Amino acid sequence: MQTPSVETITDALKSVIDPELRRSIVELDMVREVKVGAGGVVDVTVSLTTAGCPIRGHFQQAVRSAVGALEGVSHVNVFFDVLSDEQKAALKQRLGIGGTLPDGALAQIANVLCVGSGKGGVGKSSLTANLAAALAAEGRRVGVLDADVWGYSIPRMYGLGATRPAVSAERKIIPNEAHGVKVMSIGFFLEQDAAVVWRGPMLHKALAQFLKDVDWGELDDLLIDLPPGTGDVSMTLAQLVPGASFLIVTTPQPTAQKVARRAGEMAGRLQLAITGVIENMSGFTTPAGERYAIFGSGGGEELAAELDVPLLAKVPLTIALREHSDSGTPLVVEDPDDPAAQAIRHAARGLIALAPPPVGASLPMAAPAAGGASPAAAAPAPIGASLPMA
Ligand SMILES: Nc1ncnc2c1ncn2[C@@H]1O[C@H](COP(=O)(O)OP(=O)(O)OP(=O)(O)O)[C@@H](O)[C@H]1O
Ligand SMILES: [Mg+2]
Repeated sequence: MQTPSVETITDALKSVIDPELRRSIVELDMVREVKVGAGGVVDVTVSLTTAGCPIRGHFQQAVRSAVGALEGVSHVNVFFDVLSDEQKAALKQRLGIGGTLPDGALAQIANVLCVGSGKGGVGKSSLTANLAAALAAEGRRVGVLDADVWGYSIPRMYGLGATRPAVSAERKIIPNEAHGVKVMSIGFFLEQDAAVVWRGPMLHKALAQFLKDVDWGELDDLLIDLPPGTGDVSMTLAQLVPGASFLIVTTPQPTAQKVARRAGEMAGRLQLAITGVIENMSGFTTPAGERYAIFGSGGGEELAAELDVPLLAKVPLTIALREHSDSGTPLVVEDPDDPAAQAIRHAARGLIALAPPPVGASLPMAAPAAGGASPAAAAPAPIGASLPMA
């Protein structure tokens, strides 16, 4: 029987999709080599972004079945290697996330913290909204950037709705403000509950604009609420804000913690530091004082130990936290003594302890800067604001 050509095999490999980047490995130029040997034995080498790529097994299976289905193929061997730095850069370019921010765009923001998780619905947005309000209550200058452009929920949690932000004389977007927190979300620019379908380049452009064309002013902390899962948004942020770190939210059950570990692996792949873990939905205590571990227990501790980062808090399930998320006032503002609020305030204090020094803070020994403000702290040049992008 005739063996298939390299072209035919490459064609078949177009059906192998990278689940995170949602494109075929051929389009992503991740097929390093295709060799057709005697007797219909085919060797395929796939390049991964890192050696410990968690989706390696997926590629192995998908390549085997795509190529194995071709006539004349008796056996498929799948080999892996790792993309070089140049190849990674080319991949980012191809994904349309090649651009970086202008120098100094984030010079006034001391600490950028991405709040992420492996899966949805674990409380990222509720914790982001409450942590930011708790940080503000501790005297920090805080911003929240809602990077969940598909499922934005921060405006609702701060009771802001679709309040369109003003634009300054320098053509910068002035973030809305609530509970001492500066807030930016795509939700401010859309009709109620309108859907956004951006990916790749559009998404990158929107997030870049949120970072550089928004007048954040001087901030101690910018919390970024990530969409569920890993992927496009994390990659884009890693590119735009290489100094950002990750805060990983997990629920207590072992399966959730395994999924959250993927977020940790993603941070590792993108070379972002992980600040800590917060366990959410850690049990429910009835008014009579009986405690139920509804979502199991131990996941937060285990994940923190595995990633070798602090477990910043275990936030219990409380009805008040859910109610306040829905009604638009963070629980930590309205009822700081609620058990969930107490845990979140504890986490906020932990974050302050771990945070880098505020912008402009100098070491006790440093000489005063000559000539006043440093160039990095000077007002950024006006940039044309093309948001709203509709
Ligand atoms: N500790 C808690 N106690 C009670 N309800 C909670 C708690 N944490 C989160 N919730 C509720 O769980 C739901 C999901 O929370 P949230 O939207 O913050 O999760 P998410 O991880 O941001 O979700 P998504 O992945 O969709 O962005 C919300 O209704 C929220 O009010
Ligand atoms: Mg969310």
